[in-house]
Amino acid sequence: MNKNIVCIGAGYIGGPTMAVVAMMNPDRKVVVCDIDAKRIAAWNSKKYELPIYEPGLVDVVRSVRGRNLFFTTDIKKAVKECDIVFVGVNTPTKMFGRGAGRASDLQFWEATAREIKVCAEGDKIIVEKSTLPVRTAAAMSAILNDHAKHEFIVLSNPEFLAEGTAINDLLRPDRVLIGGPDTASGRAAVAQICDIYAGKGGRWVPRERILTTNVWSAELSKLAANAMLAQRVSSINALAGLCEATGADVDEVARVMGTDHRIGPEFLKAGPGFGGSCFKKDVLNLVYLCEMFGLHTAAEYWTGVIKMNDHQQARIVSRLFKEMFNTLANKKIAMFGFAFKADTGDTRETPAGYVARLLHEEHVRLVITDPKAMENGRRDLADLDGIAWERNPFKAAKDADAVLLMTDWREYPALDWAKIFRSMRKPALVFDTRNCLDAKALRKLGFKVLNIGK
Ligand code: NAD
Ligand code: UDX
Repeated sequence: MNKNIVCIGAGYIGGPTMAVVAMMNPDRKVVVCDIDAKRIAAWNSKKYELPIYEPGLVDVVRSVRGRNLFFTTDIKKAVKECDIVFVGVNTPTKMFGRGAGRASDLQFWEATAREIKVCAEGDKIIVEKSTLPVRTAAAMSAILNDHAKHEFIVLSNPEFLAEGTAINDLLRPDRVLIGGPDTASGRAAVAQICDIYAGKGGRWVPRERILTTNVWSAELSKLAANAMLAQRVSSINALAGLCEATGADVDEVARVMGTDHRIGPEFLKAGPGFGGSCFKKDVLNLVYLCEMFGLHTAAEYWTGVIKMNDHQQARIVSRLFKEMFNTLANKKIAMFGFAFKADTGDTRETPAGYVARLLHEEHVRLVITDPKAMENGRRDLADLDGIAWERNPFKAAKDADAVLLMTDWREYPALDWAKIFRSMRKPALVFDTRNCLDAKALRKLGFKVLNIGK
């Protein structure tokens, strides 16, 4: 066995994960491949203009690229030269045929498995890094090992990092999960992956944080963890509407609940609903799996998490409508933030995108500003005409009837809100869907302020 590692898929998962793997394992060569030549060129760009924005990522890439981390489109050569292949290709929700709108689209995964099989010149460990339905490893193993000249052992090593904090999550993970078959070669393969995460000289993940399970538990644990987190967000958002109706304050309710050590304080922030590439896709996938196994009540339960989330975005527009005298046509609304959360340029499934579409239907004059997500946002809304994009939030808010804050970028609370107030049409409204601004101070300046769950 050589110590080289290949990762297929140079996206939000493959790129940052392998950069940290390379940093913590200086004596291993790590090669990250993708079919997207533009993405690979960006990873290799001289000025480090990387294809994704993630705090701290540039520094890690700078320290290892060209030393033991390489990016390439030559997948065949890379696979030939290594024994361990991580696969981090995308697994979006399937949009056609059986399971459309719920199941995972596994065509990229299967294409990758077939490619690995064709170019392998020896035994290999294949590591699922993508989030996959339970029992995908069985299908992959069947494809790879059918009439094969070499042995392929398929392990599951789902990734738990969150965007915006990826580097920290990778450097100090709560746990690393590795699922493998309970056979001699399976256990040996799991031990090899444990070594990678332990890092050179044991300086990376402490052994007690590396959890090993069977393959199916590992695959399901990833979907389960995301579903539980998404469920917490939907639960607090469901309570937010009740707070608005009764005079309770959702942040206070969350604080009280969070002090119960059995509940804990994390993931109880009410807001515009969850976005990102994972939660919706993974909950839908869980729903599909439940249905496949005849667990219809369980499927309905998890469907409720998505329904509540969609409702939260519709509710934002309804409240704006009501507060702005039941007509939004031709009013100017400045949307502050388009990314699905702060500290990322990612806009996949962003609540801001859904709200923007609803506002467009109402003929709002929409101006969107975001420090990192303008390029992705423009692409997402390219089919809508009349949407303006403005990097400068002050310019975006000029003459606006309302500011609609959708992403809790750190710079927004620090803006000169008195200046913004002076430049807006009156009455001037701020709808802070993240409850991150000082509402009292804004009211003092003359703003009408709306929050979620207050
Ligand atoms: P992504 O779309 O950013 O990246 C996937 C990359 O795979 C793309 O660059 C694509 O070109 C490449 N690819 C597709 N087919 C290929 C092939 N046959 N050969 C080579 N490259 C190929 O997706 P992502 O956000 O990195 O997610 C990847 C997986 O990781 C998904 O299953 C996702 O659920 C999971 N995941 C993502 C996150 C996250 O925060 N984004 C967190 C945990 C798990
Ligand atoms: C998530 C999981 O956290 C991570 O473990 C997994 O690997 C990938 O999916 P990510 O989607 O990057 O990570 O971000 P996360 O911080 O989980 O936020 C998801 C969404 O929920 C965001 O839109 C965020 O704004 C929202 N959210 C989160 C809330 O509205 N309230 C909260 O209390 C927490």
